[in-house]
Formats: sequence, C-alpha cells, structure tokens
Amino acid sequence: MEGDYLLRDASETQALGQSFGVKVTAPTVIHLQGDLGSGKTTFIQGLVRGLGADVAVLSPTYTLVEEYTTEKGQVHHLDLYRIAGAEEAESLGLRDRCGSDDIVLIEWPDRGGQAVPRPNWTVSLEYLDTGRSASIVKT
Ligand SMILES: Nc1ncnc2c1ncn2[C@@H]1O[C@H](COP(=O)(O)OP(=O)(O)OP(=O)(O)O)[C@@H](O)[C@H]1O
Ligand SMILES: [Mg+2]
Repeated sequence: MEGDYLLRDASETQALGQSFGVKVTAPTVIHLQGDLGSGKTTFIQGLVRGLGADVAVLSPTYTLVEEYTTEKGQVHHLDLYRIAGAEEAESLGLRDRCGSDDIVLIEWPDRGGQAVPRPNWTVSLEYLDTGRSASIVKT
C-alpha cells in the first residue's frame, strides 16, 4: 500500500482509496494531508467503500465529525479545518475514539494539535498541472 501514485482524475483518487480500504485493518488512524481541494474527501469516499459500506460520504467541514458503519468497523471521519483551537479539539474526545477498535480518518490533522492521535498511515495529496499525486506512508 505504501508508495507514490499518479491520479489523473477524481475516479482514480476514489479507486486508490477503495483499494487501500480493502487492505487496511482496524483499528487504525489515518491522517490525510494536502491543500484545500486536493482530494482528501474524495479518497475517503473510496476508502469507506473499500471498508465495506455503501454510504454517502460528505465533507464534515461544518459538523467536524461524520460516522459510518462498515464491515471492518465503525469509522470516524474528522475534518479539523474549521476547528477553533486546541480546546475544541480536546472536546471531540479524539483519544477515546482512538483507543477503541475503530477506524479514525482525519483531514487537516495539524489543526488539532496535541489532541490528535498519531497516525498509523499518512496519505498526502498534491496538485499537479492535471490531476493529483498521492503518497501513502506507514507511520
Ligand atoms: N485526481 C484528481 N484529479 C482532478 N480532480 C480531482 C482529483 N481527485 C479529486 N478531485 C476533485 O477535487 C475536488 C476537491 O476534492 P475534495 O473535496 O476531495 O478535496 P479535499 O482535499 O477534501 O478538500 P478540503 O480541504 O476542502 O476538505 C473535487 O471536485 C474532486 O472531484
Ligand atoms: Mg475534504
């Protein structure tokens, strides 16, 4: 699963997420890094499908957390872009989520400071002239 990938369009971003979701095992914490609009939520749409759930994955930009039930376990999908600060991050109880058998997916992890659990995997997305590049690293 580790490696660098060229993603020519959004369907390829979803497909990479899906094959990652088929292989990954719970519990796990996955950080998703990359600029606004680089494809983090798109990757997660495929990932959740690969985990065995046929659900609509929306961006939790305003709700901060979305939950999905999958064949491999409960998924917590966080987007910390709009988090107000470390206290609000603490109030989300991220460490307790991490202690369970669950799968934790975090967009904009750096915004949550110390409250954010360390990743088992880091997925980084970058803009190319056309499409995106992705790197998947086991951490
Ligand atoms: N490989 C790709 N090539 C071109 N467009 C892509 C690719 N992957 C995703 N996109 C498109 O980029 C746009 C933004 O994607 P997405 O919402 O997943 O980004 P994001 O990183 O989650 O953004 P944010 O930081 O705002 O949460 C969408 O329109 C999506 O279809
Ligand atoms: Mg997003």
